[in-house]
Amino acid sequence: MILDGKKVSIELKNRIKKEIETKNIKPTLAIIQVGDNSASNIYIRNKKKACEYCGITSFYFPFREDACESEVLAKIEELNHDSNINGIIVQLPLPSQMNEEKIINAVDNSKDVDGFGLINKGRLLVGEECFEPATPKGILELLDNYQIDLTGKHVVVMGRSNIVGKPVAILCLQRNATVTICHSRTKNIKEITKTADILIVAIGKAKMVDATYIKEGAVVIDVGMNRDNGFLCGDVDYESVSPLASYITPVPGGCGPMTIAELLENTIRAYKIQKQGENR
Ligand code: GUN
Repeated sequence: MILDGKKVSIELKNRIKKEIETKNIKPTLAIIQVGDNSASNIYIRNKKKACEYCGITSFYFPFREDACESEVLAKIEELNHDSNINGIIVQLPLPSQMNEEKIINAVDNSKDVDGFGLINKGRLLVGEECFEPATPKGILELLDNYQIDLTGKHVVVMGRSNIVGKPVAILCLQRNATVTICHSRTKNIKEITKTADILIVAIGKAKMVDATYIKEGAVVIDVGMNRDNGFLCGDVDYESVSPLASYITPVPGGCGPMTIAELLENTIRAYKIQKQGENR
């Protein structure tokens, strides 16, 4: 069965849109981009479109590829102090002259709707209320939507990035899954992935995971977004894996749209915390 991220994300966006309309609120999101990464251009275009659909005002701040760190930090500082801005994201990756951690951590916690700053990451780790990063949050929301319970399940995460692999592992652990994280140095990786009840793949290698990695009946979540001969594809070889899987996310139409919808949800949450003083 297909885990239809497109459909679930539309439902989520419609709930967000309705809430914004009924409460007559005006949340805002600032998007910072440095350089001209083609994947980032697509993500940003989709984020702006989704904001517009839901009634969130987005402000876009592009910087040249060769911009210096201090210019970007100055913009973040300005946005941190601007009470008309509820959420701030810095699209990753940043050019190599920039210290990514420094830039990300310049964003005020209460506006860190990507959940990439140290405070939000720490809160996530200990299970406190926080802005959960959008991709991991979207994966859990998608599983919930199909009533796939994680309790006692073996979740194997392929990839250990700070924005997907590590946080999704933590969220699955909080749902009482038994979690294994595999990565490029893992030995006998297929022996491990073949024991997964739920396999989450975020390795950034087009179609690398084929049927030989999969246990029959596994749930397969493909976070990959790659170009293969001009076509968009995931990290999972869909043709090979889908006959074995009980559930699988397509690419496109799986995790991608969920990520965007969750970012919007974090943005209205930021609005509420800032304007209405709701407890975190
Ligand atoms: N680059 C890849 N995914 C993301 C994301 O969710 N947020 C930001 N800011 N950059 C990304």
